[in-house]
Amino acid sequence: MPDPLAANPKAADPVALICEVRHTDDLRFDPMHHYTHGHGRAVLRAHRNRSAANSCAHLLPLLQPGLSLLDIGCGEGWITRDLARLVAPGQVVGVDLSAKVIHLAQAGGDIPDNLTFLVADVYDLPFDAATFDVTHLHQVLHHVDDPVGAIRAARRVTKPGGLVSDREGDYGAVTWYPPSRGWEVWQKVYLAVGYNLGNDPRVALRLGEVAAAAGLVDIVQQSSLWTYPGFATAADYAESWAERMTDPDFFPLIRAAGVATKGELAMAAAELRRWGQRPDAFFAFPHGELLARVPD
Ligand SMILES: C[S@@+](CC[C@H](N)C(=O)[O-])C[C@H]1O[C@@H](n2cnc3c(N)ncnc32)[C@H](O)[C@@H]1O
Repeated sequence: MPDPLAANPKAADPVALICEVRHTDDLRFDPMHHYTHGHGRAVLRAHRNRSAANSCAHLLPLLQPGLSLLDIGCGEGWITRDLARLVAPGQVVGVDLSAKVIHLAQAGGDIPDNLTFLVADVYDLPFDAATFDVTHLHQVLHHVDDPVGAIRAARRVTKPGGLVSDREGDYGAVTWYPPSRGWEVWQKVYLAVGYNLGNDPRVALRLGEVAAAAGLVDIVQQSSLWTYPGFATAADYAESWAERMTDPDFFPLIRAAGVATKGELAMAAAELRRWGQRPDAFFAFPHGELLARVPD
């Protein structure tokens, strides 16, 4: 099996790679290179709940020891660590556009020997064509302005016959109980900010269309839910979004989308926190899942 890192001589030295990457978190409000949620405390805390079992169950039956795997937009790499253990001794690489989050991933400990983290843009992956057996993305396509281009890039670095996998939340289909003005404002804000950046916060619905446009075959679309309580407590989930919605770094994007004032956001955040304290609070977040093959 070819070494996935051999294609890029700088891959052995992630710091060198970080230095040449176009994006840094200082550019986070460049609409062409923006990760909507940023990597603040609330985001990182929420991502730490994620595991291969709770975030890519659709992919797990197809994994086996020895497969090489690329996780694009890996964030701090909690899912990636699990995937690396499942395919060891296969080589696994987690890449993310954010140098900050890759530093955190590298410093986060408990990194299996077969896993490397690198800074890289999905549109400019530093790997030869046909390098990996499996390429996976989790919650990345709804943050980019060209999902077909992103899956095409995943296809390029995946071997003929290899697997491309993705999972995205559908921000348009979330539901909650009891009724909450806080969640209503939150949903309006997140949909508007996403669309205003040229992203599709509902790309989860059309993963099959995206995969076909990117030239993949044997396309399978599935779905799954994250529910609260369950994935996390309703209180933690509400708190996480209340913090993100009132993060001063996020406000320029909300202002650009023209959907809410700072006062409305503060009221919505307070209402979300009250909602999260209710014993009957329930939130469901549907996800679209994709499995597809690179043509032989
Ligand atoms: C919602 S987070 C998901 C992180 C991880 N996959 C998980 O599920 O915990 C989306 C990640 O995609 C990264 N991202 C956004 N645009 C990207 C791009 N063009 N290339 C690579 N990564 C990108 C962001 O920096 C962010 O860490």
